[in-house]
Amino acid sequence: MARRSEPAAGCTADDRGLVPQEHPWSPSILAAAVRVTRWRRDRCFKGGTGRTYGRQRTLGRSNPGRVHQANLGGYDALVDVHVSLVGRQGLAAEIYSQLRGAILDGRLRPNAALPPSRELARRLSVSRATVTVAYDRLAGEGFVTSRVGAGTYVSPDAANVAGAPAGAAGALQPRPLWAAIPTSTAFARRAEFDFRTGVPDAASFPYQTWRRLMTRELHSAAAGAGQPGDPAGERGLREAIARHVGISRGIRISADAVVVTNGTQQALDLLARVLLKPGDRVAVEDPGYRPAHLLLESLGMRVQGVPVDSEGLVAGAIPGDARAVYVTPSHQYPMGMTMSLPRRIALLAWAERHSAAIIEDDYDSEFRFGDRPVEPLHALDSTGRVIYTGSFSKTMLPALRLGFLAAPPSLHHALRAAKYVTDWHTSLPAQGALAGFIDEGRLARHIRKMRALYRVRHNKIVDTLARDFSASLALIPSSAGLHVSALAKTLSVDEVDAFAEAAATAGVAIQPLSMFAAAGRPVAGVALGYGAIAASSIDEGLRRLRLLLR
Ligand SMILES: Cc1ncc(COP(=O)(O)O)c(C=O)c1O
Repeated sequence: MARRSEPAAGCTADDRGLVPQEHPWSPSILAAAVRVTRWRRDRCFKGGTGRTYGRQRTLGRSNPGRVHQANLGGYDALVDVHVSLVGRQGLAAEIYSQLRGAILDGRLRPNAALPPSRELARRLSVSRATVTVAYDRLAGEGFVTSRVGAGTYVSPDAANVAGAPAGAAGALQPRPLWAAIPTSTAFARRAEFDFRTGVPDAASFPYQTWRRLMTRELHSAAAGAGQPGDPAGERGLREAIARHVGISRGIRISADAVVVTNGTQQALDLLARVLLKPGDRVAVEDPGYRPAHLLLESLGMRVQGVPVDSEGLVAGAIPGDARAVYVTPSHQYPMGMTMSLPRRIALLAWAERHSAAIIEDDYDSEFRFGDRPVEPLHALDSTGRVIYTGSFSKTMLPALRLGFLAAPPSLHHALRAAKYVTDWHTSLPAQGALAGFIDEGRLARHIRKMRALYRVRHNKIVDTLARDFSASLALIPSSAGLHVSALAKTLSVDEVDAFAEAAATAGVAIQPLSMFAAAGRPVAGVALGYGAIAASSIDEGLRRLRLLLR
């Protein structure tokens, strides 16, 4: 197999040193697919990595010391569960799939009550958050409905959702690794007081302006001859993005460096396809952004959690064989601290020493409330090892699915090709509307307006935590973004999980930091987002939380 030092056909290894992974974008896609298949066969069926992809292992036969069995009284027809405790993720997925199976094969009928999450967690000896993840996933897929305070029930129309029974003989089955990868259920439950992270204030978005810009793009004159566009994105938008990040984030890139994507998630997907091959190790922050970790796992990467401390990612703990590091330096997700300058320098030096890539996710730092601007790592990089990803999910709306990456020239051909084979290009009308939104100054205006709103919410939460929660929570200093986090002073991880669950019952949605663990080292604490909650609701939401901590 060719080595990294040999660039792909059509790519040049420039002096900056980052070159694409050698196979997928050359004519040898088929050979690459065969290699991937072989690798997966080895990994899944020869037990090469010790991860739980094979069924036997999931059922605990290879790990008899950690098998849990539960017989749930009235539910025993349903949950005579043998679950392997290899990782929290696996356990939630197992609970999910067994309950789903029971719904699909009719053992759990429409409107039947599921056990309360606390009860099931106790019987299975798992944290309540683990059961909640399973329940939320079932709710997100329409199998159950949850009502705060009233419990969780099988949906009346679950049978329609179900379709063909999953276990039917001959039914098509996905590759086993997908059993451990959940779909997004973070927003399945509604909350009266919503402190969840990752959402902006959708009600404040200038819909009228966006509608006008979209309408302009949907005229036949704008649509041209109806041909597909440039996979890297329309020139006008790439220029607008380069100008925008130059001004707002202080990074100097040309339009040629930009690839327009369907959000950060697709930027990471393209980068992983181009830079990495199955089996490569990728370092991620722990705790960190789970959708990124899951994406990398789904592509067959070995995802290695690296601890973070008050200065951000501990650069000295990155494994020497990591091919890439995924990092959120401006506002660590979910802890919230900014990576210190010495750490940034150490991280850049590490990447250069190991010829590795740094993927910088700068997802929400346009919203900064301190005096000192939070500089992107990209601005410090003189070696061309940092690839910058940006998203319009926070500055605009996540529903638009718009984002971008900025990469060195050595990756351009491969990234354009990766975008082409993935989905050809991002929607042209949306690209045109976004270019107009930026060029007319609408984006800058919206950010300025939202920064003022978020600053009020940020300060309210920070002040209240310092004043009323000082016995139980230690705030992590943070002056940017859409959430803050706090470490529990006395509560354990499980107790914080139970606190978050009790808060949900009291109508307050918060996220325990344990949700973001990358390698089973959960942190005891909570993340509090303020994108979705009005300033006028913050006091009451926090008051309810305080009552629960008494
Ligand atoms: C760490 C992090 N990166 C990126 C994003 C945005 O992702 P996308 O652009 O795919 O919506 C989020 C949104 O919650 C996030 O929390």
